[in-house]
Amino acid sequence: MTINKAFVTGCAGFIGSNLVDRLLGIGCEVVGWDNFSTGQREFLDQALRHQRFRLIEGDSLDASTLTSAIDGAEFVFHLAANADVRLGLHHPKKDLEHNTVATFNVLEAMRYASKHAVVGLVKQLAFELAPQVRVNGVAPGGISTDLRGPESLGMAQRSIASIDLNKTAPDRVPIGMVPNASDYAAAYVFFASRQDHIPATGSILNYDGGFGIRGLRQTMGGRELPQRIAQTKPGASS
Ligand SMILES: NC(=O)c1ccc[n+]([C@@H]2O[C@H](COP(=O)([O-])OP(=O)(O)OC[C@H]3O[C@@H](n4cnc5c(N)ncnc54)[C@H](O)[C@@H]3O)[C@@H](O)[C@H]2O)c1
Repeated sequence: MTINKAFVTGCAGFIGSNLVDRLLGIGCEVVGWDNFSTGQREFLDQALRHQRFRLIEGDSLDASTLTSAIDGAEFVFHLAANADVRLGLHHPKKDLEHNTVATFNVLEAMRYASKHAVVGLVKQLAFELAPQVRVNGVAPGGISTDLRGPESLGMAQRSIASIDLNKTAPDRVPIGMVPNASDYAAAYVFFASRQDHIPATGSILNYDGGFGIRGLRQTMGGRELPQRIAQTKPGASS
């Protein structure tokens, strides 16, 4: 299988730094995460010269930064730990936090990086289950529902419905409108149809109104595009 985007915790440690070099060597894009409690910068000398490597200094106990950092990773390799267990009797809390709680945070962060993790999962399952089973996914854009964010990021009380998508999105989403939930139904039906999706497995339909092309930015064309084109015509007043 192909590994495209990997996230390595404990990237400045003995095992982590070697894994980083290996992943870069097979063409992978790597984000490394480490708090440098025991990690060594010189272990990353080679990786830091690589364009496909990005180092993020952070502590796995900082769940919200970790969650943002992990976003986009298809594979997560978790090697950050207080590996020196020798003095565990003197600092049991440290071991509990940096090994157990930190691992819990990594797993939670993977859950919230779900869209991208699910992309990896869909592809892997499509490969494992072929040819009997087809595995495809639909990735819808924002819809005005009661969807809420994770409590750990302070988003549990805020429903997406409280954001007036019809006011903000039209100028920011390339298709210039916010689809309804029902507008997405056809995509699922398409993948469920034995006749219509014959070539599809491991496919993800990014059904997001073009949002994924550039993220939350003003589109280059914009609503005034016809007027701007008209203005460039010979004889048009400027
Ligand atoms: N080295 C071994 O022989 C061996 C054998 C079996 C298992 N392991 C396990 O493999 C893993 C890596 O081992 P290693 O030898 O590379 O250890 P290491 O100490 O060299 O690497 C651990 C890395 O994690 C970082 N780190 C620690 N706590 C962190 C936190 N809260 N947030 C972010 N980064 C943090 C450290 O700075 C360090 O760079 C550990 O879980 C270890 O228990 C190691």
